[in-house]
Amino acid sequence: MLVVFAGAVVIAVFGLGIQLPGVVEQVAPGEVDSTPGFDNPGLRMIYPGRYEVYIVAQTWQFTPNEITVPVGSEVTFFLASKDVIHGFKIVDTNVNVMVIPGQISEFTHTFRKPGVYPFVCHEYCGAAHHTMAGIVNVVEE
Ligand code: CUA
Repeated sequence: MLVVFAGAVVIAVFGLGIQLPGVVEQVAPGEVDSTPGFDNPGLRMIYPGRYEVYIVAQTWQFTPNEITVPVGSEVTFFLASKDVIHGFKIVDTNVNVMVIPGQISEFTHTFRKPGVYPFVCHEYCGAAHHTMAGIVNVVEE
């Protein structure tokens, strides 16, 4: 059984590209607005095909709640919460992280197919939790 479990982990990491979100940095919830990147949240191109996006999570919205990238783009996401625990799941991808107050959630995803990818908060965060969502537009160049 241990060999089977170890094999499943290896397949998940190298075959399916599943990665654990890294805790790269910490940020106090009250200091998100004055932290570089989160002080001006949004998408930035590092070079063609390579992007990073800073997203602020707070009850009950993501800022920004819509980004547009060309198909094939590799996008590194940085998320931080200004209040409670939120979640961040991009539909039809393997992106699924928690956004925990005090920590910056970082992960990278490559969008290989064009389309509209909704993202949602999937940690219950209060009365309007169900409205906390946005979209990634992946467009043909
Ligand atoms: Cu934020 Cu649920």
